[in-house]
Amino acid sequence: MSRHLAVFGMQWGDEGKGKIVDYLARSAAAVCRFQGGDNAGHTLVVDGRRIALHLIPSGVLQPDVRCFIGAGVALAPDVLIGEIDTLGQQGFDLGGRLGVSRNCALVLDIHRRIDAAADRRAGIGTTGRGIGPAYEDRIARRGILLGNMFEPDFRSRLGQLYEYHNFRLTDYYGEAAADVEEQYRTCRQAAEYLNQYITDVSGALESIDSAGGGILFEGAQGAMLDVVRGTWPYVTSSNTLPAAISFGAGFDFRRIDCVVGIAKAYATRVGEGPFATEQDGEIGRRLSERGHEVGTTTGRPRRCGWLDAGALKSGARLSGVDAIVLTKLDVLDGFDEILVSLGCDADGAPQYETLPGWDGEVAGVRRWEDLPAGARRFIEHLENLTEVPLQMISTGPERGHTIVRVNPWEG
Ligand code: IMP
Repeated sequence: MSRHLAVFGMQWGDEGKGKIVDYLARSAAAVCRFQGGDNAGHTLVVDGRRIALHLIPSGVLQPDVRCFIGAGVALAPDVLIGEIDTLGQQGFDLGGRLGVSRNCALVLDIHRRIDAAADRRAGIGTTGRGIGPAYEDRIARRGILLGNMFEPDFRSRLGQLYEYHNFRLTDYYGEAAADVEEQYRTCRQAAEYLNQYITDVSGALESIDSAGGGILFEGAQGAMLDVVRGTWPYVTSSNTLPAAISFGAGFDFRRIDCVVGIAKAYATRVGEGPFATEQDGEIGRRLSERGHEVGTTTGRPRRCGWLDAGALKSGARLSGVDAIVLTKLDVLDGFDEILVSLGCDADGAPQYETLPGWDGEVAGVRRWEDLPAGARRFIEHLENLTEVPLQMISTGPERGHTIVRVNPWEG
């Protein structure tokens, strides 16, 4: 039996982690975010209702699961408060079960302004949520952490930070300055509201572990967006791999029993950057339409293409992946041929293998035996290529549209 799981995306994010975390959280005592910020977007579909989350762990929909936001997360207080309120209106009470580290880097209005201005020049295609500039501030040791909002010198620290960034905004980017007083007022209100959630996350995880509870660590974005290991500079600004759990959550990642990599049956990417298997013709259009490939956070259409099994294999080795969960397999229903890349040659061109499509439908199937034979062969072939067992398969957006061959908690 696994006690602790890490769940992370193996591609460029948007692999459908939210649904899988929601499912696996049923057996967890706690779910913890350890990196990223509200650049992440998880859409969960429960009883036909769509619930979009950006900061709060996807375990929140399971009533008894505790939710933590670790110190590695870049935290926008206004977004967090909005999510707590929205979830409350939808009947999900967070009272006493949400804990946020006081050491999260704060994301402020000025970070969003800088993000937008900088990206107009850099062309990374960021989400504009201010996550990069907030992490930059942390690394540069001039930023503000959530806990600093409660300290007497908060106003002067905020003033200094605004002075620095306003200089960039006005003198370098030629834009209007941002108003520190307005930010100070909203931070004071946010601090009052969020005080009840401040928790020693590392200590709380330790206690849950000692009491025998299982912890699920929920990654955001994906391996190929990792700031060091990804397709730099077209990456996000945090480490997205499970190794980041140690510092981002304050929990030794070697104590994780099962690393679960989530991969979509094809590939998508939002924003700029290399994407060797991208299909911009009819195939891309079909994947996009069938997969509803529009960003949860930005509403941008996602670029679509074929799965890169070679990248999955090397990503799995790097992160010690024990199990893969394959999502959105139903999107490939009706294709006569499915291409899978085995990796790229020296010029960066993908080396494809062409596999036959299948007769019948994957959509909505709940049992392995009920999958079309061709779809089962496709899965088994991917297992051979990646050398990792594909333990779960998602066949549609609803909670029940899930095939569990082996439950990662038990595998
Ligand atoms: P940033 O994280 O907003 O700085 O954006 C940097 C890159 O990461 C852009 O290409 C974004 O589209 C991408 N990105 C950030 N978060 C996500 C996500 O949750 N899913 C998919 N792409 C993301």
